[in-house]
Amino acid sequence: MTKPTALVTGGAGFIGSHCCLDLILNGYNVVVIDNFVNSSITAIEQIEHITGGSITVYAIDVADKDAVDAVLAEQPVDVVIHFAAYKAVGDSMNRPLEYYTNNVAGLLNLLNAMGDAGIKHLIFSSSCSIYGDALELPLTEDSPAGPTNPYAQSKWMCEKILVDLCSRFPDWSVTALRYFNPAGAHESGAIGEDPAGIPTNIVPFLTQLAAGRHESVQVFGSDYATPDGTAVRDYIHVMDVVEGHRLALEVGPVPGFRRYNLGTGVGTSVLELIREFETVTGQAIPYQIVERRPGDVPELVASPALAQADLGWTARRTLTDMCRDAWNFQEKHPRGYKDILSLKETS
Ligand SMILES: NC(=O)c1ccc[n+]([C@@H]2O[C@H](COP(=O)([O-])OP(=O)(O)OC[C@H]3O[C@@H](n4cnc5c(N)ncnc54)[C@H](O)[C@@H]3O)[C@@H](O)[C@H]2O)c1
Repeated sequence: MTKPTALVTGGAGFIGSHCCLDLILNGYNVVVIDNFVNSSITAIEQIEHITGGSITVYAIDVADKDAVDAVLAEQPVDVVIHFAAYKAVGDSMNRPLEYYTNNVAGLLNLLNAMGDAGIKHLIFSSSCSIYGDALELPLTEDSPAGPTNPYAQSKWMCEKILVDLCSRFPDWSVTALRYFNPAGAHESGAIGEDPAGIPTNIVPFLTQLAAGRHESVQVFGSDYATPDGTAVRDYIHVMDVVEGHRLALEVGPVPGFRRYNLGTGVGTSVLELIREFETVTGQAIPYQIVERRPGDVPELVASPALAQADLGWTARRTLTDMCRDAWNFQEKHPRGYKDILSLKETS
């Protein structure tokens, strides 16, 4: 039997690389599109090293229609998993047009190319940020959307485009997965989270801090209506997130649009996360409380019940597993993928 082929956009990025690894280990062919704006080819090489498989990589932009057309003409793609996007809330407040262009126009270009090639099965990376200021917790897929920043708005616009596409053309099968706060790394420590520049997500910032790359971490706001005043999020291990993608694939191309929360159902405050990280690393983590960050909301916690019922998915890993695996990657590679590159240069 021939293996199904998944085209993974943003496949060199944090979640995309873990998804590629999991798919290869589970019998898929993987083809990647990435422009490497926030990632390194070393992530792909590491995956090939662990799995003994090979990944065809196209270093192109998803917004380049001719280039995406050429990929879809060359490769026997069964399904597209679309991770490629900009993802930082704060950055999106300063660069709204870049976020709408990359995230929304990028998706439209991809959909047009897929339609032209007759490929109509898509898994889309959505985000819990679309819920905005939650009225009721935990958040279900029916909770109202209320994006509070251009990043979240861009993801919500993408979902609306996908709903309209599927209601007009029932031969499309689209699953939007709304991730809560993915973090951690593959248990091997061979791949992990290594963003370009200073991390805007707290877990990679904490791991870099523990590796000596930052002096202290800023905690944005201590006056939220949460038990300790700091923002509460539903942190989820990246391997649980990517297993959700595989289970969504295994359901097969079901006509229409579906959306699922991928979260644990457990909220953790920023201070609780810092304490857990101190325990795992055995290091004190200096922090400073600063003003709330524009665009942030107090609390986001998922109800994962629908994904469990429909996909048979549940988050299996704990907060401790997540902190330990994130630290394992960073401890092995204090400067991230640059360390692997320089090892190769000297050998
Ligand atoms: N990490 C999170 O906290 C989180 C939470 C919810 C949703 N998401 C979504 O999940 C997806 C993946 O997130 P991530 O954390 O892996 O981010 P990431 O930045 O590590 O990965 C994104 C990848 O896409 C690539 N990319 C970006 N724009 C591109 C373009 N125009 N053409 C080709 N490649 C492009 C980047 O180089 C990178 O490799 C994103 O869509 C993000 O919005 C992430």
